[in-house]
Amino acid sequence: MSKYTIAWLPGDGIGQDVMEAARMVLDALRLDASYPQGDIGWEFWCAEGDALPERTVDLLKSCTAAMFGAITSKPVVAAEAELRPELRGKGLVYRSPIVRMRQLFDLYTCLRPCKAYPGNPLNFKEGIDLVILRENTEDLYSGVEFHPVPAELASTLSSLSKPFRPFQGLSGDQYAVSCKINTKRGSERIVRAAFEWARKNKRKKVTIVHKANVVRASDGLFLEEGRKVAREYPDIQLDEANVDAVCMWLLKNPFNYDVLVAPNLYGDIISDLCAQMVGGLGFGCSGNIGEKLAVFEPSHGSAPKYAGQYKVNPIATILAAKMMLDWLGETEKANRLENATGAVIKEGAVRTYDMGGSARTLDMARAIVARL
Ligand code: IPM
Ligand code: MG
Repeated sequence: MSKYTIAWLPGDGIGQDVMEAARMVLDALRLDASYPQGDIGWEFWCAEGDALPERTVDLLKSCTAAMFGAITSKPVVAAEAELRPELRGKGLVYRSPIVRMRQLFDLYTCLRPCKAYPGNPLNFKEGIDLVILRENTEDLYSGVEFHPVPAELASTLSSLSKPFRPFQGLSGDQYAVSCKINTKRGSERIVRAAFEWARKNKRKKVTIVHKANVVRASDGLFLEEGRKVAREYPDIQLDEANVDAVCMWLLKNPFNYDVLVAPNLYGDIISDLCAQMVGGLGFGCSGNIGEKLAVFEPSHGSAPKYAGQYKVNPIATILAAKMMLDWLGETEKANRLENATGAVIKEGAVRTYDMGGSARTLDMARAIVARL
């Protein structure tokens, strides 16, 4: 039996292409693992009404970790229209399977390193090395949403909230409500994860990203809990920034930042901004990490127009595999993989189209394997 069981979840579109590339490097590293394949994605939504079937959830329960490719998602009405006819009109609601995995397995830390590998022609500036820890289970991703808004909810809000007054005359179908739910526990543990990560990796500063001046309740709580945690880490500088301002300052001077921690939606947004500064979608890697399970993925989508063409850059997925190796404690293999990837980027002989070259997905994987 192998040491690790890694659930292998390619998903949709280019998810298949980039996962094939990631598997080439893991095999070349001779990781002692088996890779049972799991069903996930649009195909299973259309055929079964569930993009994350129960059998895949069971598979995940039996695995050490998972590698995940990409998923296609569509808005409610479009999703319903693609269901098999006999499943339509049954109240099935499409929810992103990656968001569901995060919540089901309490993968509360979304770790997103954004490092400018030297010589990458897509670097915004050389030397950027930012890390985002995004809360991954709560906030506007709680899934507590209403449209149409039920009368009970409207009447409760009318009696409890003065700012609700301008909305109270509307009929339920005329507005929608999405709840931003932040808990003390959720806020505390993600900020703690950020400080722990900073300490372990000898980083100097943690910036708490929020909008507590306007979103007083939920972001106020996040910030308050964060400040409490920060007091336990006097060796690391605490910094606080509004999410809008931080988007400007990050572009102006990315070197003023180090580790950033944010509630779910702001973390989603600033991690795309930071990924773009180090090469964009082809370089954004992500780990969804809980106490028992972790799921690693590129942060890009399924890019259906490139599906099966073996054209896209697999580096994001290869770096996600590197993150998985770190999480497994396979540090030597993780370092070898990162060094090989860095060397190929620096050399510049093999570049995919996003980097201005003509190499294909698996050429990139082969070049990295050759450097291991
Ligand atoms: C990400 C993605 C997901 C998210 C989507 C695909 C649901 O944008 O991982 O950043 O919003 O979290
Ligand atoms: Mg995102």
